Amino acid sequence: MVQIYTLTLSPSLDSATITPQIYPEGKLRCSAPVFEPGGGGINVARAITHLGGKATAIFPAGGATGEHLVSLLDDERVPVQSVPAKDWTRQNLHVHVETSGEQYRFVMPGAALTEDEFRQLEEKVLTIESGSLLVISGSLPPGVNTDKFTQLIRAAQAKGLRLIVDSSGDALMAALEPGNLELVKPNQKELSALVRRELTQPDDVRTAAEELVTSGKAHRVVVSLGPQGALAVDKTGFVQVVPPPMKSQSTVGAGDSMVGAMTLKLAEGASLLEMARYGVAAGSAATINQGTRLCSLSDTQKIVDYLNKN
Ligand SMILES: Nc1ncnc2c1ncn2[C@@H]1O[C@H](COP(=O)(O)OP(=O)(O)OP(=O)(O)O)[C@@H](O)[C@H]1O
Ligand SMILES: [Mg+2]
Repeated sequence: MVQIYTLTLSPSLDSATITPQIYPEGKLRCSAPVFEPGGGGINVARAITHLGGKATAIFPAGGATGEHLVSLLDDERVPVQSVPAKDWTRQNLHVHVETSGEQYRFVMPGAALTEDEFRQLEEKVLTIESGSLLVISGSLPPGVNTDKFTQLIRAAQAKGLRLIVDSSGDALMAALEPGNLELVKPNQKELSALVRRELTQPDDVRTAAEELVTSGKAHRVVVSLGPQGALAVDKTGFVQVVPPPMKSQSTVGAGDSMVGAMTLKLAEGASLLEMARYGVAAGSAATINQGTRLCSLSDTQKIVDYLNKN
């Protein structure tokens, strides 16, 4: 069986709370916070667990917040390989305002990584058995420049790991430099920044995704399009997957659920269409729930059944 690992360089301990109204100066009374693990790769590993698979999360953990993060993942039965870090793991805050229904997401900068901490994370990656899938997701923390990131990807590929990347901006650009990524999942904005042009016409997104495949950057590109689903491209062609109309409550975790689902399908050797359908189903399943919840297996299965019939 193909093993799955995820790498999160900028993990977080997320807390979610509810307040009746939001206004300046006065005290905003909030409900007791609910803590959840956060950070791209960590959420991908959690989504894979929700879907009945197994993925080991590799990440730096610092201070009491880092310990809390590790214990939350233990509770969820997500296998962890953490590297102790000096800087405390960041804490993000998600506030749901009851009267307006608005969501506020306060995102702190990632904890800085020292050279030695980065080296230890790299060592963990380079001991993964050849042929395994490694999902690298999320932003780069202070202390990690894009060159180091590109080198890590090259070294992982030289060890025979198959890479899946979900990131943005310079980090995404740096990840694509070595080429041969198994899968990359930009949203439309990330893809547009990557190819340095606006994607306005219906065919623009497809053309840009095809360029990444034909230039050898990635074997598969799945462009996620929010409520419009996704466009998936590989060397054999492209497929478009549109989710059923649904009442979305919160899109938090949609991208990570989608990447988790597609990684599971890649591990099974599924086709491009099967992978894209399962990814869209899990992404859309994540939006059914209010708050920060990821996809559930039953919602994902219901949506994928619909997609297979229509
Ligand atoms: N409003 C929505 N309604 C239905 N499905 C949605 C909605 N938003 C997202 N999805 C589903 O989730 C998938 C990923 O969402 P999206 O394109 O927003 O990714 P993203 O921009 O990477 O999100 P994230 O903010 O989580 O990183 C979509 O392909 C779609 O299947
Ligand atoms: Mg995303």
